Amino acid sequence: MNHQIQPIVTLNNGMQMPLLGLGVYDMHAAEAETAIVKALETGYRLIDTATAYNNETEVGNAIRASAIPRSEIFVTTKVANPSQGYDLTLKAFDESFKKLNIEYIDLYLVHWPIKGKRKDTWRALEQLYLDKKVRAIGVANYLIPFLEELKDYASVVPVVNQVEFTAYLFLKDLMEYCNKQDIQLQAYSPIVRGRKNTDPKLVALAEKYHKTPVQMLLRWIIEHGVSAIPKSSNPKRIEENFNIFDFEISTEDMVKMDHFNENLRIVEDPMAML
Ligand SMILES: NC(=O)c1ccc[n+]([C@@H]2O[C@H](COP(=O)([O-])OP(=O)(O)OC[C@H]3O[C@@H](n4cnc5c(N)ncnc54)[C@H](OP(=O)(O)O)[C@@H]3O)[C@@H](O)[C@H]2O)c1
Repeated sequence: MNHQIQPIVTLNNGMQMPLLGLGVYDMHAAEAETAIVKALETGYRLIDTATAYNNETEVGNAIRASAIPRSEIFVTTKVANPSQGYDLTLKAFDESFKKLNIEYIDLYLVHWPIKGKRKDTWRALEQLYLDKKVRAIGVANYLIPFLEELKDYASVVPVVNQVEFTAYLFLKDLMEYCNKQDIQLQAYSPIVRGRKNTDPKLVALAEKYHKTPVQMLLRWIIEHGVSAIPKSSNPKRIEENFNIFDFEISTEDMVKMDHFNENLRIVEDPMAML
């Protein structure tokens, strides 16, 4: 059991959410269940899944199997792209709800801002929220133009915007925009899928703090007040990724890491959907 204190934020609707969570993309069946049980034992209280990941059933199984009360776990899922639009989204939500089978879903996200569909999808999410079927609603892959457009028709402000965000893809303008609008930014692929672990400037900083390159990347995100949802199904790495609350990066080194930015994207650029 890990007793380190993890930061919790209050979302714009008053709900609380841990900043660090476990992403479960690319985890299948038994693998996902084992990883989530391990993560909950380690101290993670935020699990990020999606209908597109095909593991909502296993996510639900793991949560029900754990000794942690449901009320202490924050669960996010997302509407898949083929289910976007008003009616299909409502139906997709019911299916996710059944598969997860965990009393309630904390956060439901629009997975991608699909052209011609995203407005109706958001209307459906607002309906689910007004009907109290879900505790909070938000978006993913909404860069500033999508958020500006959303303002024209939304009556509920998203609580979270989940985007690709790392020291190598430092979306400073989006981070500042979300702070102003009281939307919690959440970083996906936060450790660049391990691809920068041998970058000499990152390794040098990690050595200075007696931490791993991945821990430096995660800590940099958290110190910016951004949520991070690294994925791992490996027990040691699940622990490593959580072990970031016993040190701080100095202001000077935060600035250094801010300059690691090289606009490096692992996942496709949402701007293609504008
Ligand atoms: N909204 C969206 O469109 C969107 C898109 C992408 C991702 N996401 C969410 O964000 C989560 C995280 O993103 P991601 O899975 O794309 O990438 P990521 O978390 O940056 O990287 C995951 C990869 O890094 C490896 N890894 C994990 N911890 C490590 C460590 N300490 N040292 C070295 N390698 C490590 C993992 O392998 P092992 O499992 O073997 O450790 C896995 O291959 C996803 O699981 C998903 O929940 C959302």
